[in-house]
Amino acid sequence: MESIRHPEQLYIEPFVGAANVIAHMSGNRKAYDAHPDLILMWNALKQGWRPPDFVTPELHASLRHAEPSALRAFVGFGCSFGGKFFGGYARSSKERNFAASAIRSLDRKMVTLRDVTFERGYFHELEPKGALIYCDPPYAGTASFSVGKFDHGRFWEKVREWSRENTVIVSECSAPEDFSVVKTITAPCGLRRADGSQKPRNEFLFQFSESIGKAAVPEGKLKPSRSSYVRHSVKDCSPACRKRSEKRCKTRTR
Ligand SMILES: C[S@@+](CC[C@H](N)C(=O)[O-])C[C@H]1O[C@@H](n2cnc3c(N)ncnc32)[C@H](O)[C@@H]1O
Repeated sequence: MESIRHPEQLYIEPFVGAANVIAHMSGNRKAYDAHPDLILMWNALKQGWRPPDFVTPELHASLRHAEPSALRAFVGFGCSFGGKFFGGYARSSKERNFAASAIRSLDRKMVTLRDVTFERGYFHELEPKGALIYCDPPYAGTASFSVGKFDHGRFWEKVREWSRENTVIVSECSAPEDFSVVKTITAPCGLRRADGSQKPRNEFLFQFSESIGKAAVPEGKLKPSRSSYVRHSVKDCSPACRKRSEKRCKTRTR
């Protein structure tokens, strides 16, 4: 992502989550997420807050329905089974203390995150200009996040709009047909198995086809692949896409 960024260009993540990607970026960065607890946690960590290095089942249970807080994000994500928000208490053992490993992971990220602006917000509220925007939204067809049902059609429409004045890259497994694959990545995904491993899955980086070459991506850095068509659901199609390839969209629906 850094390789396609202009010097000093603002980098934005509308779905920052665990900040795994933005932690590898530098300079002028803004991070948003609809999850109130997560944003409280990132801002508390920036101010020097230290999470507890052991979390009891009682604390875990008491926070499940508590008011949003930094501690609730830490416990809800860092000390729950599979990292799913309050998905079940992750019982620590002699070999593994979940709270301590979550702190180590946060400490590593905080080295590069101190100057990032974190704000709670929904993607549709953002109106950026001239930025490099990296979107890692909830994937279509996967379990919804605790912030509510995700409107994929509205999301792709927003990406088309942002792409007029920004460079927008979307990480997804599928996209409407007016988007092109600019890179394919094989990455582990989903809940962890008992041995800690994750199933590998192909993910794609997409760009709105009309914006490629016009937006602020330096020539030759990311190019659409020859096969820019990726299986996608009809409900995610733009009206233009549906008109162009009604038949193909229907037959190739997930
Ligand atoms: C796939 S995760 C992002 C993962 C992230 N790249 C990371 O490094 O962990 C998707 C994120 O989108 C957030 N989210 C879901 N719906 C949203 C919305 N409407 N607006 C903004 N954020 C949303 C979730 O809270 C979640 O943190």
